[in-house]
Amino acid sequence: MAAEYSKGKDFISSMNVWAIDVAEDPKLNAEVDGFDVSDKFFPPQAWLPCSLSLRLQDVTAPFSAERLGTYDLVHFRLFLTLTTEKLDQLLENAIKLLKPGGYIQWVEHDKTSMKPVAASAEGSTEAVEAFIGLQQSPFPNYRAAWVNEIAPMLANKGMKVVAEDRFQTRPNVAPGLSSSVDTFKEKYFDELAKDSQNGVALIDGFIVVVAQKPL
Ligand SMILES: C[S@@+](CC[C@H](N)C(=O)[O-])C[C@H]1O[C@@H](n2cnc3c(N)ncnc32)[C@H](O)[C@@H]1O
Repeated sequence: MAAEYSKGKDFISSMNVWAIDVAEDPKLNAEVDGFDVSDKFFPPQAWLPCSLSLRLQDVTAPFSAERLGTYDLVHFRLFLTLTTEKLDQLLENAIKLLKPGGYIQWVEHDKTSMKPVAASAEGSTEAVEAFIGLQQSPFPNYRAAWVNEIAPMLANKGMKVVAEDRFQTRPNVAPGLSSSVDTFKEKYFDELAKDSQNGVALIDGFIVVVAQKPL
């Protein structure tokens, strides 16, 4: 099941809440545990499928012993804000949670492949290009290309990388991320909305890496 899901899923149609998506898929018949350091955005239990449990857990801290070696698949998405040290702890933990032969599926925003797109030749892409620039350089020393290190990081931990796929979204206008957004808003936000009406948008990118724990 894990192998089929992690390699065969249509990721474009899967950008919902991953845990709910998987728990509700009748073909998978999966039991899903979701972990987050904060429960502020946990949906009410009544709205969740019975096969999904959401739990408070710092994923960089040790998990309880009874969970270790019990999971077919560990998925994480958008951990871009964690330090290298925390990412290392997260990976160590994820591998300990897996059964032998289990998979890690890690999805991140691939800002390196963002590009402007215009529905017609007359559309100026200036504002969209500035927005892409903001996302690729939201603060000094940010490296958008860090996502290229995901596969080597997994391999260094003894995992066998079985997929490294990149895929792009449909044209969209994404929200901003940090205080630099204020400057951006002042300069370009109205223009961005106009661009959107005129059929000028951006193509976004994601990277997904799947790696298997040795048997
Ligand atoms: C950018 S959101 C991504 C949420 C979800 N994975 C998605 O793709 O929509 C990052 C989430 O990671 C959680 N988080 C950050 N550090 C964490 C940690 N050390 N342990 C568990 N959850 C953490 C945050 O609380 C937040 O809900």
